[in-house]
Amino acid sequence: MRTNIRSILLIISGSVAAYKSLELIRRLREQDVQVHSILTAGGAEFITPLAVSSLTGTPTYTDLFSLRDEVDMGHIRLSREADAVLVAPASADIIAKLANGMANDLATTALLATDKPVIVAPAMNHRMWEHASTQRNIATLRAQGIHIVEPESGDMACGETGKGRFADTPTLLAALNGIEPPSLPLAGKKALVTSGPTYEPVDPVRFIGNRSSGKQGHAIAAALAQAGAEVTLITGPTHEPTPAGVVPVHVQTAEDMLAAAEEALPADIAVCAAAVSDWRPDVVSAQKIKKIDTGEEFSMNLIPNPDILKALGQHAQRPSLLIGFAAETNDVLEHAKQKLASKGCDWLLANDVSGGQVFSEDNNTVWRITRQSTDAWPTASKRAIAQKLVDEIIFTLQPKTQDTHHG
Ligand code: C5P
Repeated sequence: MRTNIRSILLIISGSVAAYKSLELIRRLREQDVQVHSILTAGGAEFITPLAVSSLTGTPTYTDLFSLRDEVDMGHIRLSREADAVLVAPASADIIAKLANGMANDLATTALLATDKPVIVAPAMNHRMWEHASTQRNIATLRAQGIHIVEPESGDMACGETGKGRFADTPTLLAALNGIEPPSLPLAGKKALVTSGPTYEPVDPVRFIGNRSSGKQGHAIAAALAQAGAEVTLITGPTHEPTPAGVVPVHVQTAEDMLAAAEEALPADIAVCAAAVSDWRPDVVSAQKIKKIDTGEEFSMNLIPNPDILKALGQHAQRPSLLIGFAAETNDVLEHAKQKLASKGCDWLLANDVSGGQVFSEDNNTVWRITRQSTDAWPTASKRAIAQKLVDEIIFTLQPKTQDTHHG
């Protein structure tokens, strides 16, 4: 059973059925659903955070007051980043707390803080399930719009028989499938992003390259994908991991990057953040070029590389929003305005690299230059700049409301 959602927050509470949530995580991961997890103190009596994390591939959070966890994620973000929150298995205790609005640990705090759909899959002894208090709490949750995955009847771990068994994995997946996928602002849009340096071979062991880390381009690809765009990330050699939900195309040279960019068309959005080598050796030696022991000079001819941004600007399938970067050391804005025109792009993000402080750094200060305007964006992390750029892209591409006044 395929789920509609891309990410969930799974809360595992204290029940002997906690181990079954591991199977659920495996099925979700098989479908590329990102799983973040919270293990309550009760849950941790039955399974370990390590077991959960080894399947989710993400940290398992346990402690509301852990500084590391807060710095890493923060309970509010944790509760809102996912498309849905699933409490599975849900003990009588966590159901009672949620029904009464208690927030005395990470799980209950996240449940109160979330603005996403919540699904609760109870698992408990049948008398606990049938107890008037539990039934009243379940009715309260239902009235709040929380979806309850009814427990099943049968033999219980405690040796008794009755209703209270944790629903099986296909039933839980079916419940998740019933959730409407969130409507993301760039859903249905195609984007291509170039990132990182290019390596232009000189001989089998040497190349001409540059210090681009790919951090900014990869952060843009990640933010576009998070906004729902279908992203092709064409990247030169970097140490940056491929962001979730992005299709990577790994290239070495400018020529390969251009071919991959043209291959990725048509696209609605293109962001050229790669630091493409301006030149390449006109001849690539098939053998390693030998050192000259006589001390004579060695020279080689460089020929210009294709300009990918410019090529996209002139392409028959030009993306409707074409964005470039301009790293300048002097007269930043003036050069950037000229570049906007010469490359035929819609926006240029310009930054001053005179201090040599941008490559590999986490922070960046940019101006956004369009044909009509120049805005200075405050210094921010490359991630925050990527997010701001994507917010601007969303704003620009959103259908404009028509003036219906016919006066
Ligand atoms: O010309 P300059 O290198 O300053 O322009 C920077 C912008 O052009 C960046 O967006 C960069 O990714 C793009 N570019 C390109 N292909 C080149 C050179 C630059 O796409 N060969």
